[in-house]
Amino acid sequence: MLNVKTIQKLKNNGQKITALTAYDYSTAKYLDEAGVDIILVGDSLAMVALGYETTHSVGMEEMLVFTKAVAKGVKNALIATDMPFMSYHSDVSTAIKNAGEMIKIGAKAVKIEGANDYILEVIERCVQSGIPVIGHLGFTPQFLNTIGGYNIQGKSFATTLEILEQAKKLEKAGVFSIVLEMVPEESAKYITDNLTVPTIGIGAGRYCSGQILVSDDILGKFSDFTPTFARKYADLSIIIKTGAKNYVEDVLSGKFPCEEEVFKLSKEELKQMKLYIGT
Ligand code: KIV
Repeated sequence: MLNVKTIQKLKNNGQKITALTAYDYSTAKYLDEAGVDIILVGDSLAMVALGYETTHSVGMEEMLVFTKAVAKGVKNALIATDMPFMSYHSDVSTAIKNAGEMIKIGAKAVKIEGANDYILEVIERCVQSGIPVIGHLGFTPQFLNTIGGYNIQGKSFATTLEILEQAKKLEKAGVFSIVLEMVPEESAKYITDNLTVPTIGIGAGRYCSGQILVSDDILGKFSDFTPTFARKYADLSIIIKTGAKNYVEDVLSGKFPCEEEVFKLSKEELKQMKLYIGT
């Protein structure tokens, strides 16, 4: 099973880290069997699994249910889960308690967005309590309303330096890796080259220590919108719709179920039934 040390080793050995999101048992199992290093129960599930407009609408209760399901499906990957919006912002003790709940039900790490002084304290206390933390910088979806939209971050050298400074603070607070979201690849490279912990990019170019994407985007299951940086490796929406259409047709035409798909009474019971109904 991968852990914080083996993830760091991948970076040290110059091997790229692979990460994808999963929200349910079966998907987690397949991603794990495919050899993904980190499986993240992302709060993107608010949109792609629950149909909300932003990640703000998902809470601890839902994240716990999805995390528990994913944890059951994974044997080898490191399971990380997102701390949802407002689950770590009110005070440090609530933050630690909530992060601890995630670990108790099977997560091996939590992801926390941002790097202000309060967040740094939360991260330090988590790590001191035995809860590994992944940081998240660049575009941070939980700050959508203060950022003012889905905007690329670190577009100038000055803002790149700001992100690097935040990343160094996260590193000092004890994170074992940092997600860099929607950052120009030159900026992401500069940040990556100046850190010890691995960076895991999403829309952050080719030079991060690893890559993460939302599996529903790359497998074509979520089709409301696809970010330009997410490559489509499959189109599950077509497979699901074709399968469902064929099923509907077969039920309507009486082709489903067929002889092999039904249970039968024993000959004796059938005889008794026929005697009773007189046929
Ligand atoms: O919620 C999410 O899916 C994320 C991304 C980094 C993949 O945070």
